[in-house]
Order: sequence, then structure tokens, then C-alpha cells
Amino acid sequence: MKLCIEHVSQFASKEKVYARKEEALKSVKALYEKTGQGSDFLGWVHLPTSVAEGEISAIEELATFYKANAEIVVVIGIGGSYLGAKAALEALSDNFWAMKESENPKIIFAGQNISEDYMYELLDLLETRKYGIVVISKSGTTTEPAVAFRLLKSHLEKKVGKAQAKDLIVAVTDEKRGALRTLAVQEGYRTFGIPDDVGGRFSVLTPVGLLPIAIAGFNIRQLLQGAADMQKATAPDVPFEENIAAIYAATRNELYDAGKTVEILAGYHPKLLYITEWWKQLYGESEGKENKGIFPAGVTFTADLHSMGQYIQEGLRNIFETVITVERTAHKLRIPNDPENLDTLNFLSEKRIDEVNKMAELGTMLAHVDGGVPNIRIEIPAINEYNLGMLFYFFEIACGISGYMLGVNPFDQPGVEAYKKNMFALLDKPGFEEESKKIKARLS
Ligand code: PA5
Repeated sequence: MKLCIEHVSQFASKEKVYARKEEALKSVKALYEKTGQGSDFLGWVHLPTSVAEGEISAIEELATFYKANAEIVVVIGIGGSYLGAKAALEALSDNFWAMKESENPKIIFAGQNISEDYMYELLDLLETRKYGIVVISKSGTTTEPAVAFRLLKSHLEKKVGKAQAKDLIVAVTDEKRGALRTLAVQEGYRTFGIPDDVGGRFSVLTPVGLLPIAIAGFNIRQLLQGAADMQKATAPDVPFEENIAAIYAATRNELYDAGKTVEILAGYHPKLLYITEWWKQLYGESEGKENKGIFPAGVTFTADLHSMGQYIQEGLRNIFETVITVERTAHKLRIPNDPENLDTLNFLSEKRIDEVNKMAELGTMLAHVDGGVPNIRIEIPAINEYNLGMLFYFFEIACGISGYMLGVNPFDQPGVEAYKKNMFALLDKPGFEEESKKIKARLS
């Protein structure tokens, strides 16, 4: 994996970025030595090399069980208990996986919304399918997944009976606490623990991400290996000039201080869409606090060049772009020659589609830089488990470094509670009587 910051130099010179070296390295050290803010939530730093062999084998065994017993596995979760697995599965799967046969169960997500139609239509689909459920919630009390699980549990128990349903349900939750842990123990479900010191958005390398990824048939050992190699490449003993996570963190902070307050993560493969969604949560929830933080946005090119391209080229000049570029595609396809050339496309005859895509990428980068949008490039050799592991860990460690450089605690999310308080008050949840009165008075 490579990082290129050459095209930010008009806006943040290399000297200025490198002048942040001490600050960045101090942040790496603070993450390792647990001396910074939120130090109770740094378990993810060593995850790539600390997931026990027993846990990996148990995950693989469960994947084999589902392969034999389910056509579909519904994975229930939201936020950090959803986006990492979703990102990996979308990136690693065939673009048309939903329409194609597969020897592994198909993964469908639920509990990431409260849409009645979504749940109704899901239950309707599951009526005629053999399915299992993996319910994921660290706190075990999040409303969205809890609602989805109640519906699906009841549906599965009616369909196959309580005894068989028990074997088809797995819970991933806090090792000791929470309503989901209590429920799982009481019902006798198989469980996997989420370490206390790993927050939701940093949990893709725990069973939260590993289990759904393994059930879909992907190699979690390679994923962890990629992450482990990135951990080595970004450790405190690596000099700043070679530590791409520290350079990325320093560059985005330099750009932020130069007035670039929005970062757009761009990809040129639709498979990477959910990597962007995962990244948006990671950076948005980690850095957006105390009235500070770069706003993380995302686009998929070239599709979004025909929708957001105008704004990026000529709108408010407070944005910078980070592009994930993929060196090699998995397949090769050439554009056929057409002797009639009615579409005038023969200048592309026999060219690889990927060559056209790469020229679109290069042309866009140059145009955007000319238009005042600095460009950071992250290059991965190909989309596979190993490189995805690298990418996940790279973004996580860079996020920790960047958050510390910004001066916030990257590992809490106090702002997420505000909507929940209002929702519970509106729904008359016991314990929220005072808030209920206040909010209803405000609305009357
Ligand atoms: O990053 C986070 O902590 C959050 O996004 C959580 O993952 C999300 O709110 C879901 O929480 P839980 O796993 O407790 O249901």
C-alpha cells in the first residue's frame, strides 16, 4: 500500500506537513503507551496480532456450520457493529452477488434502520428460506438492532421451533454486561465477546467483523495478516518519513488548518462504496466534537462526477479529496472494435476498461487540483482480504493519530446520545418521564 501527498503541495507544502512530525509521532506513542485521551479504548491497536487462534478457529467452525445449515444469515447491528463487515463484504464479493448462486450463505443486514417496510419485506423473504441470525451489539441495548432481533427471533422460533432456532442464533456482544449478554445466556445461544477496550467503530477485526466475513466465505486469516503488517509499518519505531498513517494524519491536519474542512473519500470501483461509509463513521464519530473536525464525505466516481463533480470542481473551496486507487482489477475486459464506429468510440478499441477508468482518475485528479482541491492518493495493489486488512488498520491508526493531533478524544461519541434521549422521551420509555413532559410541551 502506498500514500501519495504530492498533489497537496500547493495547499499544504511538504515542509509544513513534515514540520508536524514530532506531533504525529507523539500521538503514535500515546496510542501505544495509553497516555492520551480515551486510553481505555485502545485495545484495537494490537488486535491484528492478538486475536487468539482459538477464536479464529471457532469463527471458522461457525462459518462451516452456517454453510451447511443456512441459505441466508441475517447479521443484525448498527454503526460500528455493522459497517466494517458490510464494507468488507461489498468489497470482496462479486458486484452481483445477490443475483448469483454461491456455495456460502448470503449475508443480509438488518437493525441498521427502523424502516417498517425494510423489516416487513425481509421477513417476507425469509418466510421461504433457511436462515440463521448473528446479532451484534456491544452495549446490548441499542434500539435499532434490539427491535430487529426481537422480530427476527420471534419469526425464526415460529418457523423452526425454539430448540432449533437456538442453534441458528449467535450473539456477539460485551463479554460480561448488557441485555443481549443476559438474553443470550438465558436462551443458550452461542456467543462471541467484544473486548471491553475496543469501541464499535474500531471493532472490525474482532468477531464483530470477522464472523460475518468468514460466514460469507472470505479468508479472515489473510485479513488479519494484512492488518498485522500494517501495524508493523505504522508502529512507534517507524520513522515519520516511512509511516504512511502518520503522514496521512499530519497532511489532513495541515489541510484542515489551511481551511480545508471537508474531506471527500473517493473510489473508482462501486465495490468500495461501503469502505467509504465505514471510513465516514470512523472519522466523523472520532473527530467531530468540541465544534471541531474535518467533515467526512464520500463519492464513487465516475458516477458521482455526473452529480457531485460540478461542486467539487467549482463550489466552496473548503474541500480536499482522498482517493483510494486500485492498481490491478480482478478481471480483464477489453472494449471491442466496431468497424462501423457509429458511436465514434473506436479510439478506445481494444483498450482495457480499467485503462479508461485510470485515465478518468488521472484526468479528474488534475482537474480538481487545478480547481483548488488538494488530492491525497492511497494506492492498494488489488481488492482482496490482505489489502483490505491493511486498509482497515491504516485508517484506524491514522484516525487515532489524527484525532490526537486535532486535540480531541477520538474514542468517545457523546453527541450520539442526543437523538436517543429525544426518541426515548417521545416513545415514553420508563425512566424518561421528565424528558417526555418537556419534549411534548415543546411540541404542543
Ligand atoms: O462506534 C460506535 O461506538 C457506535 O457506532 C456503535 O458501534 C453503535 O452505536 C452500535 O452500538 P452497539 O454495538 O452497542 O449496539
